Amino acid sequence: MENHFPVEKFQAIETPFYYYNMQLLEDTLQVIKEESEKYGYHVHYAVKANANKKILETINSYGLGADCVSGNEVSASIEAGFPGNKVVYAGVGKTDKEIITGLKNNIGCFNVESIPELEVINELAEKQGVVANVALRINPNVKANTHHYITTGLEENKFGIYIWDLEKVMDKIEELDHVNFKGIHFHIGSQINDLDSYKQLCVRVNELQELFKQRRAIPQIVNVGGGLGIDYENPDENPMPDFKAFFKIFDDFLELEEGQEVHFELGRSVVCQCGTLISKVIYVKEGVNTHFAIVDAGMSDLIRPALYQAYHKIENLSSDQEDEKYDVVGPICESSDCFGKAVTLPKTSRGDIIAIRSAGAYGEIMANQYNLRQLPKAFYSSDL
Ligand code: LLP
Repeated sequence: MENHFPVEKFQAIETPFYYYNMQLLEDTLQVIKEESEKYGYHVHYAVKANANKKILETINSYGLGADCVSGNEVSASIEAGFPGNKVVYAGVGKTDKEIITGLKNNIGCFNVESIPELEVINELAEKQGVVANVALRINPNVKANTHHYITTGLEENKFGIYIWDLEKVMDKIEELDHVNFKGIHFHIGSQINDLDSYKQLCVRVNELQELFKQRRAIPQIVNVGGGLGIDYENPDENPMPDFKAFFKIFDDFLELEEGQEVHFELGRSVVCQCGTLISKVIYVKEGVNTHFAIVDAGMSDLIRPALYQAYHKIENLSSDQEDEKYDVVGPICESSDCFGKAVTLPKTSRGDIIAIRSAGAYGEIMANQYNLRQLPKAFYSSDL
């Protein structure tokens, strides 16, 4: 049984809720800071993983930038204290309103994914009387070994500019007066544990750099995206990924020109392990082949198992009796509202506290109100 959760305090709080271990978040940020600074790398936090205000403020206090994918994420980052020049904005479908939000906040860079988008940013920047920094998001066609829903760097994905269109896009940038070519951007996917994928990305980036060198348009920023995976099976043994090995891959394999900066956009690896979804067992019901532990959290609170068949470790924090097997399910009217099948748990009863681990990334932020449920609240170790 885990002992680092304040279980007695949990008893007094209405479930379900997200619990954030702020010390672990800070320890993780400290390691990221130390390991990236060794090489002078810049890390932006991918806000999409978790836009909780307190978490954003903590991340900002360690000097990371913010990587945003919507106008609202840009605004939330600015409100949490990130300086505009450390905010980057990516996304295939930026609306005019969202672009204007970025321009007004003087953000560091727009990561651009198509020629029509480039033209609109140019037009809106002209109206605002500014010049927008842009980086080209290039589809590197590198296969990341991960779930197909979350690979992004392949030609068949909707993301980025194809390599064979780059010359055309660069010609376009040169024609436009209100965009300034600042960098190149890549992202190969998410929950990547095989560092070899990043080595392949470095090789591809090195090849592409030649094209820019020939045009004498050296990108100042080389943004290699995010995607570093975490250990969902063993959150206690591996509370953070091997950031040291991760950054070293880029130092070993990326060939840089004088003055080029390397940027990263890490989401999951920053916040995942510090978050846990806490719920209570409402009923234990005997099924035909299994016991059902029916908990008060559902797929509306944490959609990853239903959406991606994602594994999250489940623990009973209240019992230390003999192990049994349970299907841990939520109250929502969908069969996919299941957090785990045949999960080994100590004998479980009504009222027991259940922890669904590694839920800090793409958990609270993807919650919804299906079945007219309340959105989950958040509590922090530093406040309990
Ligand atoms: N940069 C770009 C351009 C991205 O598309 C993403 C994630 C990131 C950075 C951050 O990736 P991370 O370091 O967090 O892996 N909802 C899914 C994950 C979707 C990821 C989308 N893009 C999940 O729950 O697994």
